[in-house]
Amino acid sequence: MSDPRVTGLRNVDLAVYDLAQSAQFYKDHWALSEVSRNGDSALMRATGEEHHVVALHQRPRAGIISVTFAAPDKAAVDGLHAKALGVGAAVASAPHALDAAAGGGYGFELSSPEGQVLRISSDVAAHADVTQDAAKPSRINHVVLNAARMDDQMRFFCDVLGFKFSDFNGHMNFIRCSRNHHSIALAQSEGASLNHVAFEMENFDGLMSGVGRMRMGEHEVGWGVGRHAGPGQNIFSYFVDPNGYAIEYTTEVDQVDDTYVSHDGSYWTARPLRPCSWAGRKTVPTDWMHHAMAGKTIEERNAQLAAGNCDDVISEKMAS
Ligand SMILES: [Fe+2]
Repeated sequence: MSDPRVTGLRNVDLAVYDLAQSAQFYKDHWALSEVSRNGDSALMRATGEEHHVVALHQRPRAGIISVTFAAPDKAAVDGLHAKALGVGAAVASAPHALDAAAGGGYGFELSSPEGQVLRISSDVAAHADVTQDAAKPSRINHVVLNAARMDDQMRFFCDVLGFKFSDFNGHMNFIRCSRNHHSIALAQSEGASLNHVAFEMENFDGLMSGVGRMRMGEHEVGWGVGRHAGPGQNIFSYFVDPNGYAIEYTTEVDQVDDTYVSHDGSYWTARPLRPCSWAGRKTVPTDWMHHAMAGKTIEERNAQLAAGNCDDVISEKMAS
């Protein structure tokens, strides 16, 4: 068979401080729908066919638990498993039947060189009732991970999982596993953490409706609305969820094929509308948005909880 590779993003599993609060946020403000709740976990879907796009798990400390990728079939899952073993990757198990309550399918779990848990699955149950509502997210478009060991991470994602290099902007490597310009981006950082999760909106009008819904719910935009004058060239709007995770509504991400010409940082930094200007208006992240994208908001809150201090550092950051 041809070289096995992942072909898309399915979902992220997130540890949250308060399941009820987080599930309510993702339903009422972020416009996901709850598929099921079981004990300390809730599965949330978007309007697309993917069984769920976010799994929330109540834990004493927040932090990303895993990112799940799609493989086209069981043979590809088996092939990816063999490749991972062949390079000595940390593989948790052989491919096996997955929990039917979470959509079932066939897959396995492994860890990236920086220890992020990644899952690969095929044959997961898909929703037949796909709805068209531009004001609600349809799927996860991309996940950005902060990386301290960039070369190791790039080698793993490209050589083991089959990602292709799209662009480098001088700070982040953008890599793809489908026509979407990037399903993963790796941001050079001091340590490994989640930078942000981007949810796809059907069009600009739908994205603005989502932004309006968030603002009506007292969730202010942390960066945007703007268009990245950099890799992907997408329209963006970033927020921080109740835990401190950076989340994005995005639309119009470049769709590319194998004829796409990659560029490096010198190309993108020479673009006339950098950084992320639109209609002549420069947009930059707020300090608290920048803090969340660096993984610091959750890191500090976890440290405070560990020290017995329950102050709400997220509210403090957003008010500063
Ligand atoms: Fe993004």
